[in-house]
Amino acid sequence: MSEANRVFAGNVITQMCGVPYPIFLAGMAAISGPPLVAAVANAGGVGVLGGLRLAPLMLRNWLRETKALTDRPFGVNIVPQFGGPEVFEAQFQVILQERPRILSLFYAEDYCADLIPRAKDAGMIVMVQTGTVALARQAMAQGADIIVAQGSEGGGHLNRGTIGLMSLLPAILDGAQGRPVLAAGGIVTRQDVRAAMTLGASGVLVGTAFLASEESNAHPLYKQKILQASTDDTQYRTGYSFGWPYGTPHRVIPNRDKWNVLRWVGGGARAIDKDRMARKLSLYAGQGVGKIHSIVPAAERVEELVLGLP
Ligand SMILES: Cc1cc2nc3c(=O)[nH]c(=O)nc-3n(C[C@H](O)[C@H](O)[C@H](O)COP(=O)(O)O)c2cc1C
Repeated sequence: MSEANRVFAGNVITQMCGVPYPIFLAGMAAISGPPLVAAVANAGGVGVLGGLRLAPLMLRNWLRETKALTDRPFGVNIVPQFGGPEVFEAQFQVILQERPRILSLFYAEDYCADLIPRAKDAGMIVMVQTGTVALARQAMAQGADIIVAQGSEGGGHLNRGTIGLMSLLPAILDGAQGRPVLAAGGIVTRQDVRAAMTLGASGVLVGTAFLASEESNAHPLYKQKILQASTDDTQYRTGYSFGWPYGTPHRVIPNRDKWNVLRWVGGGARAIDKDRMARKLSLYAGQGVGKIHSIVPAAERVEELVLGLP
């Protein structure tokens, strides 16, 4: 990486997390597994495991597998309102025991208001992803160390926001009182990183572009759909998506097959899933798809993104 060989001076995020670059892999459920997390971490970014949906035993296995693949700091994402309080608490106990450096939350419900202090007491850095200014304020009041401003360009579930990153990021930064804010949604290239950093972000969080990497756990046909899709091809939806309450907003590449009821359902397809899943579902993806032209090693994506850092 010729240009990137110049040293990024570092910032509040790199100091806080102990990493070279403020480039985060989104903790995508079932997609961001140990090989992808370790690849991003070993390339100098922050890998985040997609812990949502994982039974506690599996979550522990993934955390240990990741530790075996990298000595670098990494994180894990869980979603408090998914699965209910008991499931969530069981996952959280595993995380407290295994103690990765960073806990990433999608959004906190009232029943887990004490969650952030508990994670911080255990020595973890807590980041919370939000799509509105009000939710960002709530997360900060609960003690979040890092806020992720999730623009509506983003793939997968959207944390209640319908606001594009260009407007959301400055608004969240306005009330952040110096707390670092990451930009998420549609980020694929060095130019995107440069734009986000110019707006005041302290780093970026990237999902769809890492989904289209060699180490991701996505089904090969899913990766192909990402490559084929153009910028116009994603859709914001509030209908059905696997395992989530009806109406939860999400962004997909819609499946347009006529005689296929699964086309109304948003989901991801893992490498171990049947081809049918990737062929029939409407697949999670962000508006950045039009900028993704090949499946590359995750380290190559990190290198590209690093070139946009100041
Ligand atoms: C396939 C997929 C799965 C996702 N799963 C999760 C998840 O489990 N938890 C979470 O907090 N965010 C999840 N997200 C959202 C990401 O955290 C992030 O906001 C989004 O990927 C950023 O936009 P981008 O995809 O355009 O980079 C997911 C995104 C995608 C594309």
